[in-house]
Amino acid sequence: MIEILPQHVTFIMDGNGRWAKQRGKERLYGHFEGVESVRSVLSTSVEMGIKYVSFFAFSEENWNRSPEEVGGLMDLMLKSMKAELDTFLNNGVRFKVIGNKARLPESLNEGIDELETLTAHCSRTTAIIFVSYSGKWDLQQAASRMAADGAHELEPYLATAGIPDPDLMIRTSGEKRISNYMLWQLAYTEFVFVDTLWPDFRKQEYLAALEEYASRDRRFGKVK
Ligand code: IPE
Ligand code: IPE
Ligand code: MG
Repeated sequence: MIEILPQHVTFIMDGNGRWAKQRGKERLYGHFEGVESVRSVLSTSVEMGIKYVSFFAFSEENWNRSPEEVGGLMDLMLKSMKAELDTFLNNGVRFKVIGNKARLPESLNEGIDELETLTAHCSRTTAIIFVSYSGKWDLQQAASRMAADGAHELEPYLATAGIPDPDLMIRTSGEKRISNYMLWQLAYTEFVFVDTLWPDFRKQEYLAALEEYASRDRRFGKVK
């Protein structure tokens, strides 16, 4: 039994390319296997009663990869989310995509709209995929809309408005950086960095990270 659970866990899923390379395969093969890790982590989150679980799937910077990889990832995202619809509905999972959707292919946007609508009533766990997202983009779009409204509070304008800030951020593959992910929202998040490559990150690795989180002393600037 894990004593203290986070309300929102977010993942920087990294290492798919290296995982494929180790096996002499193309990068996309690693992304395919990475989808299985998303499924494992999501079902474990539902089981554990974690209310929000989110995944950095594609950054603004990732648009600079080869057209083959970008196209392959867009197709994979559309296919995988469609394949999960029944699982979402059967498990009370509300699905949401956050990012600069204007850059996404129309078919993907249609798929996203459909899934978001069909799962809008689900309330057990919210699963969020960050696509074409960057922290600087988010702050910029929030600041311009706030200024246009003559408003003074930034938070309601962030792409994540209404979603609690992550309590725990897990990054796989040994890289120790946030790569322009949520810059504002990670202000007080606990970070866990693991060497495991994303396609190898499954339930057991997740539970270990949750144990690590439970052992942290979150002080928020106060003295205990
Ligand atoms: C993470 O794996 C998935 C995306 C960023 C889309 P990578 O594709 O970055 O894999 P590595 O870091 O090259 O191993
Ligand atoms: C971060 O991974 C972005 C996602 C996981 C979607 P990258 O592989 O793009 O990050 P860098 O380039 O190593 O910082
Ligand atoms: Mg990477």
